Amino acid sequence: QRTVRINPSVLAADFANMQAELARIGNADFVHVDVMDNHFVPNLTFGPQMAERIQATSPVPLDVHLMIDEPERWAPEYAEFGAASVTFHLEAATEPVALARRLRAIGARAGIAIKPATAVENLFEVLDEFDQILVMTVEPGFGGQSFMPETMPKLRRLADEAHRRGSQVWLQVDGGIGESTIALAAESGADTFVAGSAVFGAADPGSAIEGLRASALR
Ligand code: DX5
Ligand code: ZN
Repeated sequence: QRTVRINPSVLAADFANMQAELARIGNADFVHVDVMDNHFVPNLTFGPQMAERIQATSPVPLDVHLMIDEPERWAPEYAEFGAASVTFHLEAATEPVALARRLRAIGARAGIAIKPATAVENLFEVLDEFDQILVMTVEPGFGGQSFMPETMPKLRRLADEAHRRGSQVWLQVDGGIGESTIALAAESGADTFVAGSAVFGAADPGSAIEGLRASALR
């Protein structure tokens, strides 16, 4: 039996009705929280104060995705207030391993993300330092973009390497994940799926989550 985790992204939720939106995803595994700083990506969302309030209201634990410069400055704060996982970008970090160790020491799962153009082989030597790896399947910055199938060979190489090393690391995909793309990502080795518009854009987010789960297992 394969493992499938579905993490809805609040980027596609109604920000003015966050409590009601979160109440609709109680059958998700984690709630994915996209933090953007208008420097690392050309878009701006919110910081730790909003994320902490989402956590206080959410029926499921927080999966924080930091699309920001200087993750060393901010990432520990999310771990401190209790985010289950904190993922920062390899492209933005100066000392990724040291930061991962800090996050783990605080008690969070440490995650590292790579953009579509970043080689995954950069991560092979440091695999054990992370609890999850996020292979972006769109350019980070915006919800509602089209899935990039050309990222799949990279995910496959990562999954093979993780398997070869007997690693328990979770492999996450984010961007354009929906009913028509989730199976391909699952076959390519992903076990954790972020979905924004496919969940919060659905009339019934709860059944959208179950639909994605079933499609990933097929
Ligand atoms: C994009 C964010 C994603 C985004 C995904 O930069 O990291 O988490 O919310 O949205 P969808 O699922 O609509 O592509
Ligand atoms: Zn994200």
